[in-house]
This record gives sequence, structure tokens and C-alpha cells, in this order.
Amino acid sequence: MGCGNDATMNDRVIRLYPPPAEEQSLEGLYLAQDLRLLAEEHRPFVYTNFVTSLDGHISEPSRTQGRQVPKAIANSRDWRLYMELVAQADVLITTERQLRAMAAGRGQNFSLTNAEHADLIAWRREHKLPERPACAAISRALEIPIDTVLASYTGPILMLTSEGASRKQVSALEAVGIKVLFAGTQPRLTGTAIIKALTQQGYATIYSVAGPQVSHALLEADVLDRLYLTLTQVILGGEQYDTLTRGPAFNPPRGFKLHELYFDPHAQAKASQFFISFNRGGQ
Ligand SMILES: NC(=O)c1ccc[n+]([C@@H]2O[C@H](COP(=O)([O-])OP(=O)(O)OC[C@H]3O[C@@H](n4cnc5c(N)ncnc54)[C@H](OP(=O)(O)O)[C@@H]3O)[C@@H](O)[C@H]2O)c1
Repeated sequence: MGCGNDATMNDRVIRLYPPPAEEQSLEGLYLAQDLRLLAEEHRPFVYTNFVTSLDGHISEPSRTQGRQVPKAIANSRDWRLYMELVAQADVLITTERQLRAMAAGRGQNFSLTNAEHADLIAWRREHKLPERPACAAISRALEIPIDTVLASYTGPILMLTSEGASRKQVSALEAVGIKVLFAGTQPRLTGTAIIKALTQQGYATIYSVAGPQVSHALLEADVLDRLYLTLTQVILGGEQYDTLTRGPAFNPPRGFKLHELYFDPHAQAKASQFFISFNRGGQ
């Protein structure tokens, strides 16, 4: 995941799996998977997506903004596919931290915009969906800069929190049209409670754009149906970084099965990348 403006927009990638290998257009690659068909009544389809280096880095400390996707792996080709996943979602799961960064003009802004994503907005219209997915931010304190958050994301915004959250904060948010969903009684929300709260709102395609702690909650609860990975072929080194999940070890380890694999030789001057999707093991 990451933005940028790679001038070279050769649109071709090579599908390696399932065979036979063949060239395909980058644009439309993930739209063609039609995730909405996979979500059945009472059975949401939950997915997440990470761009990672060969040594497994998905974020690193930044001098100005806490943590960020490493610049060496962020690229516009990955970003295009990331936004195709946004386009298919009913709701995005994010965190208060990401919402704050977006409101401050830092980090990723996952809004579909008419300037950059007119085709994806049109795709949503054709599928009779609202112009933009809802965005549900996991938050403990419910303390967000309301005006700038509302200005930075033009779709519906919701907050996901525990039942012990401050009623004063809940009222302040609801007064400006931000719905607050209660997902269980524990301050650390479980994946089960997060998905239940979203499903109760009628959301069926659920895309987590959040980081390693949220992915841990989803993995632990066995509710993550598909993992998208963009594996950029660079090694970053360094000592402080996140991988795609953080939390207690899984016992048993969570297994996945290869769903699709694409080779992208045009990613960056010095490195190519794979676009990989995995389905939850046992499906
Ligand atoms: N490379 C990629 O593709 C990729 C993808 C996503 C994110 N990232 C990067 O990863 C970094 C971290 O992203 P993030 O902020 O979304 O990370 P996160 O590690 O998933 O969550 C951040 C914070 O959200 C709260 N939180 C998470 N799970 C929770 C739960 N189950 N219940 C209650 N609160 C929970 C916690 O806040 P408290 O500690 O305050 O409780 C946690 O510190 C950022 O730099 C982001 O850009 C990279």
C-alpha cells in the first residue's frame, strides 16, 4: 500500500498463479475478483492488505509522523490495487491513529476522489453502492479532531469502541453524525466483536486498512478471509519496524492458501514486486 506517481505506467503484469501464466492489465486486476459476490447473507467477507519489503517491513518510524509505510516500498501500482479493494468495500476498518494522521494530511488517505478514481466511483455507482464506503475507526478514547476528520473523509464515519467508552465523547460524536458502535466490553476489541458490530450494521464486504495490531485481532479470531500482500523486492534492513501483525504468538499458527499470484516487473527502477492474495486456510 502506498501512493506516489510512478511516471512509467506500463499497465501489464504477469499472472503466475493460477496457471497458465499470462499477461494481464494491472487496472482491473482486483476488481475482477468481485469480492462482493463472496459475501453472503449473514456471512461477511473480511480482507486486509499490506505492502511489505522482502525483509517483512510494513512500517517504520518517521521523524514527523510516528510511523509510516517505508517510502522505498510505497508505489502507485500497489496503490491502484489498494484502491480497487477500497472500491469493493462496504466499510473500511481503520484506527483512530490513522484517522488523525489522515486528518492532519499525513499518511494514507483512502478516500476515493473524482480526480484520481473516477472509474472506481463509477464502478460503485454501477453496483448501486454509495459513492464511498463507510470508514469505521477503532478507538479507545474517542478523541478525534472532529472537524478535520470530517473534512478529510467524505464517506460516512463511524467509531468502534468498547462499552466502557466515555458517554460524553459518544454524545459529542453523535451530535455531528458520527455513529459510535460498541464492540464488546474489553478495551482491546476482539476481531469477533469488531466484525459482529459491523455486520449488525448490514456491512458485508469489510476491508481492514489498519495496521499490525488490528490484523492480529482479526487473525486471532479467525475472521480474516483473505490477505493481500504486495511483496516489493527490496531489503530495507534497520532495527525498528512493524511486520504485518503484532501481538501474542498464534497457537496454532494461522495458515493460508495461495489464491492468486502476479509478477509486476514495472514497479520501480531497482525492484520488481509480486501481488499475492491468500485465502484463509481450511476454506
Ligand atoms: N505497509 C502497509 O501496507 C500498511 C498497512 C496498514 C498500516 N500500515 C502502517 O502501520 C502503522 C500502524 O498502523 P495502525 O495505526 O493502523 O496500527 P495498529 O497497530 O493496527 O493499531 C494502532 C492503534 O490502534 C489501537 N488498536 C489496534 N487494535 C486495537 C484493538 N483490537 N482494540 C482496541 N484498540 C486497538 C491501538 O491504540 P492504543 O494503543 O491507543 O490502544 C493501537 O496502538 C502505520 O504507520 C501505518 O501506515 C502499513
